[in-house]
Amino acid sequence: MGRLSNRTCMVTGSARGIGRAIGDALLREGGNVVYADRDPGVSEVAAKAGERIGGETAGKATFAVLDVTSRSETRAAIEKAVGAFGSLDVMFNNAGLNTPMNFLDVTEENWDMIMRVNGLGVLIGMQEAAKQMIAQGTGGKIINTASVAGRQGYDNIAPYCASKFAVVSLTQSGARALAKNNITVNGFAPGVVNTPLWEQLDKDLMAIGASQRPGQAIAEFSSGILRGRAATPEDIAGSALFLASPDSDYMTGQIIMIDGGMVLV
Ligand SMILES: NC(=O)c1ccc[n+]([C@@H]2O[C@H](COP(=O)([O-])OP(=O)(O)OC[C@H]3O[C@@H](n4cnc5c(N)ncnc54)[C@H](O)[C@@H]3O)[C@@H](O)[C@H]2O)c1
Repeated sequence: MGRLSNRTCMVTGSARGIGRAIGDALLREGGNVVYADRDPGVSEVAAKAGERIGGETAGKATFAVLDVTSRSETRAAIEKAVGAFGSLDVMFNNAGLNTPMNFLDVTEENWDMIMRVNGLGVLIGMQEAAKQMIAQGTGGKIINTASVAGRQGYDNIAPYCASKFAVVSLTQSGARALAKNNITVNGFAPGVVNTPLWEQLDKDLMAIGASQRPGQAIAEFSSGILRGRAATPEDIAGSALFLASPDSDYMTGQIIMIDGGMVLV
């Protein structure tokens, strides 16, 4: 028996990067995992999950294609999870994106696009997951992906920082609202993680003149990390798993920093 045995866990933004690593960790721990993403390739990610974790699958994997900014698609994905596994017990609102712009150049479109996915998408995911958990009467766990950018405002990524501060406050609001339903709401804040998001960010920061050569931006962002390096997605998955497991039952409204000691708060 793993720590997540007989628990249904949905992870948004799990076609790659941090979300996929979390899905794999949940699966390894016995959870039934719904890999959910707007990228249709997520079906393949779910299909190959057993292979990735070395064939020791205690849980089962399936997938859902959704845009987290759509309430109807989020609801349909949750219905699919319940249809497949009988319940929804753990919801990771992890999908997120970033397109940097110099502070004075930030446009309404850039603001709306980032806030919509990283802010509204998390709110919708929390609401729809909570409604299902309340209907079940079983309680549950909601876990949101924040960031060091939810603790510090960085130039060049102002809307992203605002969206991640929003994730922190949504986590606190949700914890207060849902405690009576035995639902805990927590989050975690990665620092710099080597994923496709950062590969793209490195290119985009060069394009706006914020860095001059490939790898420079990620190296500069990582230079103050006390652990001496950027993270891998697997570095994040262990602490995320803790938040999904009964080991964290007495925690709610909290953000765990998983940043190698980048921002000390
Ligand atoms: N990589 C980092 O350094 C870092 C640091 C701090 C926080 N984060 C956060 O971690 C989370 C995951 O980041 P990552 O680095 O794995 O990114 P990634 O770009 O590698 O993966 C993000 C996934 O989210 C999906 N996605 C994006 N918009 C979506 C939408 N509207 N609906 C459904 N799916 C959508 C993408 O298709 C992709 O599969 C994000 O919330 C990100 O902001 C990342």
